[in-house]
Amino acid sequence: MYSIELMVKEHENILKLIEIVKNACCQILDGGEVNTDDFEKMILFARNYADKHHHGKEELILFSKMTEHLGAIAEKLVNFGMLVEHDLGRLHMSELETALNNYKEDPKTIYKLGIIAGATGYANLLTRHIDKENNAVFTYAERNLPSEVLESVDKLVRDFEKEAEEKKVHETYLGILEELSKKYCPSK
Ligand SMILES: [Fe+2]
Ligand SMILES: [Fe+2]
Repeated sequence: MYSIELMVKEHENILKLIEIVKNACCQILDGGEVNTDDFEKMILFARNYADKHHHGKEELILFSKMTEHLGAIAEKLVNFGMLVEHDLGRLHMSELETALNNYKEDPKTIYKLGIIAGATGYANLLTRHIDKENNAVFTYAERNLPSEVLESVDKLVRDFEKEAEEKKVHETYLGILEELSKKYCPSK
């Protein structure tokens, strides 16, 4: 199915960000400088691509159709599982941002700790979250939603993507990802 395949592909890009984030944290632990510009680019990707673009499609389209058509199990899975985790991801990003701003004003070790904690908290949460979606939530939706609802999901996702294309979302954020990847995951 088009929408699910697209969202699984987007997970691969988010997992690339996670690898970048973890490698950037390891460089700090190994005694390297904190590159605040690069961490700001990671936040930009997490907020605009992983959250607004990817979670946007999940929340506004797929998950909303699941809670509308699949009853209590889907409601629990989405409202008390996936949506809570999306929110927790936003919290980790804002903690990372606060720690970065504090570090820029006053480069103390305690703020380095905040940077590493926010960044790895996000990385670990999203890794588990993506695994659940790929192996349970998406497969459950695809198996149980009526075919006409799946067709409407595809149509809404195509419209969403068209709008994103016009706003150059892919070009902008996948460009940032590529640039960071060359620097932090050079063997890939
Ligand atoms: Fe999600
Ligand atoms: Fe997802």
